[in-house]
Amino acid sequence: KKYMPEPFKIKSVEPLRILPREEREKVIKEAGYNTFLTKSRDTYIDLLTDSGTNAMSDRQWAGLMVGDEAYAGSENFYHLEETVRDIFGFKYVVPTHQGRGAENLISRILIKPGTYVPGNMYFTTTRTHQEMNGGTFVDVIIDEAHEPDRADVDFKGNVDLDKYEALIKKVGADKIPYITVGVTVNLAGGQPVSMQNLKDVHALSKKYGIRVIFDATRCVENAYFIKTREKGYENKTIKEIVREMFSYADGCTMSGKKDGIVNMGGFLAMNEEELYDAARSLVVVFEGMPSYGGMSGRDMEALAIGFQEAMDFNYIKHRVQQVEYLGEKLMEKGIPIVKPIGGHAVFLDARAFLPHIPQSQYPAQALAAAIFVDSGVRTMERGNVSAGRDKDGNEYFPKLELVRLTIPRRVYTYAHMDYVAESVINTYEHREDVKGLKWTYEPPVLRFFTGRFEPI
Ligand code: F0G
Repeated sequence: KKYMPEPFKIKSVEPLRILPREEREKVIKEAGYNTFLTKSRDTYIDLLTDSGTNAMSDRQWAGLMVGDEAYAGSENFYHLEETVRDIFGFKYVVPTHQGRGAENLISRILIKPGTYVPGNMYFTTTRTHQEMNGGTFVDVIIDEAHEPDRADVDFKGNVDLDKYEALIKKVGADKIPYITVGVTVNLAGGQPVSMQNLKDVHALSKKYGIRVIFDATRCVENAYFIKTREKGYENKTIKEIVREMFSYADGCTMSGKKDGIVNMGGFLAMNEEELYDAARSLVVVFEGMPSYGGMSGRDMEALAIGFQEAMDFNYIKHRVQQVEYLGEKLMEKGIPIVKPIGGHAVFLDARAFLPHIPQSQYPAQALAAAIFVDSGVRTMERGNVSAGRDKDGNEYFPKLELVRLTIPRRVYTYAHMDYVAESVINTYEHREDVKGLKWTYEPPVLRFFTGRFEPI
């Protein structure tokens, strides 16, 4: 198989250091076996997240120099607004400091206590905002999304229309302020949603008068999968596909830190004027004036340019194929990963990788720590620790117990991927040495960020 070579050349570099193994052991122990609590300077290859870790282009850096840092009516806001209208097709745009800022606004505006918010699998910050406003998240993704080994499903992020309609009939459409549709679905493994499914979800929602809000965070990756997997889209441009996708939504939340190819920023967008008015009043309380929200002028400029660059087919082809390259190297050696390989990351199936560790002892957390010790490669747990506890204090024990190797955009090369693959394979060959973990400190919310552990 041929992979797309880098469609860019490197103009500025950041030197890296590799700590010796004994020091890495010390680092992870001091961090309470939580990769979130390790330092960037102690990391060799940082696959913790693809969020805000992107390399900007020379044009984006040039854009920073034309930042109009005005308190009201910044020139860069109008550029961002025009770009979002052009690419996504929404009328109104409210900039926020990042994706969760937009989630906060939409959740506060639309969710009342006792309502239900369906979605194609939860995301940590999204669900937390829904719950904080008294809503109950209901997972309506297709069953296959919870089966890491099911490789034959092209669009594992799809909404199960029967589950969705059953919920509507059970609780009543008036108790459902909106449905969230993630494109792609991060915690299912970066799995895409088909255009047909987006169309169907929209039609069903309109039948019952329910709003459709997309989580647009990785929508360009989703468009690439539609182009390469869905009949009828092979000759459409990425921009045409994105535009059609969003024609099936009433609004979206966006973390610009992913497919916007920047380090900070996001927005909330919609077509309804009333919703826009409500968002404009609230954004002043939590973020800033509606013409900058949580962003400086220069950051809005970089985001506008980043969206334009993300529409380039060679850019997104290289991005997704680099992830695929790493995943295929691991599969060749029989390493259990989530299949098909997703758009932004390779997810290790920690339960299959470490069958001797029960889920109550956090196998994914233990595996992320073991890989760090092996090579200085920093990854992230996405399993029982991330899922947290329900209202009664019980753990969710999600079906997916994963370690995410998340690839930043335009940052690492194929040679870096080789190094990562070697480390995972080496850890697999010595997997019996990895031990389960127990809490030494468990925070009450979003416990994965700051929780601490020790080996059992
Ligand atoms: N929605 C999805 C699907 C995300 O992946 C994220 C962030 C957010 C919303 C929130 O956006 O971070 O800009 O506030 N995901 C990061 C990650 C943190 O590592 O997956 P944010």
